[in-house]
Amino acid sequence: MDSVEIEALLTEISSFQASSAAEVEEFRVRFLGKKGVLRELFAKLKEADASSKRELGLLINKVKESAEQKITALSNYGADEDSLFEDLDPTLPGSTHHLGTRHPISIVKNRMCEIFERIGFKISEGPEIETDWYNFSALNIPEDHPARDMQDTFFLQTDPDILLRTHTSPQQIRVMESTEPPIRIICPGRVYRNETISARAHCIFHQIEGLYIDENVSFADLKHTLFHFTKEMFGEETKTRFRPSYFPFTEPSAEMDISCLICKGKGCSVCKNSGWVEILGCGMVDPTVLENCKIDSKKYAGFAFGLGVERPAMLTYRINDIRLFFENDIRFLKQFQSA
Ligand code: PHE
Repeated sequence: MDSVEIEALLTEISSFQASSAAEVEEFRVRFLGKKGVLRELFAKLKEADASSKRELGLLINKVKESAEQKITALSNYGADEDSLFEDLDPTLPGSTHHLGTRHPISIVKNRMCEIFERIGFKISEGPEIETDWYNFSALNIPEDHPARDMQDTFFLQTDPDILLRTHTSPQQIRVMESTEPPIRIICPGRVYRNETISARAHCIFHQIEGLYIDENVSFADLKHTLFHFTKEMFGEETKTRFRPSYFPFTEPSAEMDISCLICKGKGCSVCKNSGWVEILGCGMVDPTVLENCKIDSKKYAGFAFGLGVERPAMLTYRINDIRLFFENDIRFLKQFQSA
């Protein structure tokens, strides 16, 4: 045995490559096994000349170390790679990832919320299953009041006090009950009404209701907020008009129309030849509602508005049947893109 022989072993170890775990094991047995190269080398070392023993001993230790390091390195990487690539066929075409898109209702709802958030409204969401108090009574719609018929309601069969909310106004009551004014919120969410399903109406739809309560809030503030929203949402050239209306929870009450986005006010089937499309109800919060929520109606006043999401979405995307929003047909949904 001489140092040249041992140096050759070192070169063999450093250049060794394995392509399977079995080859690594073979290598281990060859060098470190019971009848392996190293055993043999140490045995020979005993018989070596006293003059070269020290130098050879150091070299053999180096062989041992590098064999051990090599095995560790190969079993860390080599083995895993084996199992990872065992079934890999690099000639197969890559798999594509189908990215989902946001639902058109979510896109429009988010845009609407962002416009109000930019002018200081905070989002507040509440339950879809409500009690009679929050959906009706607190909003100044007592039992047997004809206004209850304006919103055909789904009640729980076993407990008529529990219902599916017909608007998101109940969330405004919840916030008024628990917050000191000033209050400036929007309540987006899904609502339910027992209506016959058609191209223009559905029993499920979405609303965004807004509420602003502070000292000295006036109808002018309401109008300015809604003008700003309309221009941002539908474009500078969109016209608005207010019509007097009735809601039990606001006084005075109004409905707001915008000039038809499809025919630009000339008259078409969407606006029933009127040139106008109704998009929301609004008004000054009735003092009774404030008092129901323990808010001093002499000190504070407020405005509220409620707008649907489906109609603006239909106008924005030129969709002529509301049912498309709820059918989840992938061919319809994948046409919408959003950030
Ligand atoms: N809650 C009313 C509805 O769903 C909308 C509305 C809200 C009207 C606020 C006036 C003020 O019909």
